[in-house]
Amino acid sequence: MGKNLDVILKLVRNIITIDGPSGVGKGTLALSLAEKLGWNVLDSGLIYRLVGFMSLKEKLETPQEIIICINNSKIKLLTNLKEKVCEIELDDKVLGKELRNENVASKASELAKDSEIRNAIMKIQRNAYEEEKGLIADGRDMGTVIFPEAVLKVFLQASSKVRAERRANQLKEKGMSVIMHDLLRQIQQRDEEDINRKISPLKPADGSLLIDTSNLSIKEVEKRVMENYKKL
Ligand code: C5P
Repeated sequence: MGKNLDVILKLVRNIITIDGPSGVGKGTLALSLAEKLGWNVLDSGLIYRLVGFMSLKEKLETPQEIIICINNSKIKLLTNLKEKVCEIELDDKVLGKELRNENVASKASELAKDSEIRNAIMKIQRNAYEEEKGLIADGRDMGTVIFPEAVLKVFLQASSKVRAERRANQLKEKGMSVIMHDLLRQIQQRDEEDINRKISPLKPADGSLLIDTSNLSIKEVEKRVMENYKKL
């Protein structure tokens, strides 16, 4: 009985979900919490970006074609804590920069409305959890749909202007050019689609810890999350 209870407690204790719109700081927070706790990271947006990338590259039109392509591909999630980056391996080729542009992100957001596509990648996301090591899962529906059993569910918010500026800095750091006006419009459009879609819309899970990161540093956000985690 005691052992069973231990197992149940462990299952709910070691997943933290972080949901929120683009550029709000989910990825940075996830990596820094993972480093602190020695846990793994699931960047679920990267899987949706991979799906968008595949459909653009292979000119796949229907959800069925896309799902066949997903099922026939070797997909491996990689977390590089040293470089502070999540990457994805597609058929033994590491993809990172190819996925981090707004064209791929817009396509990802369009395809993310499809329930069959969402179901096809649910297993990849659930499989990112290893019982022995905790998981920080970031995305749009981590707390509501993929890991409802998570011990702590965080929802980050920030104004769209602040988020576009952060995203612009990230892209510039990676050597990409940015037109601020276009980036702001693309981010707002993507958020609107993510919030208003029928399946797994972007919204806080019940009981989420809500944090507005507009005027907070990453260290301050991390401190709030850790304080709440330790209370549990
Ligand atoms: O987080 P990121 O900006 O990389 O996500 C790209 C897109 O993938 C989002 O705009 C959203 O449409 C989709 N996505 C999703 N559910 C997730 C993660 C991402 O629908 N859990």
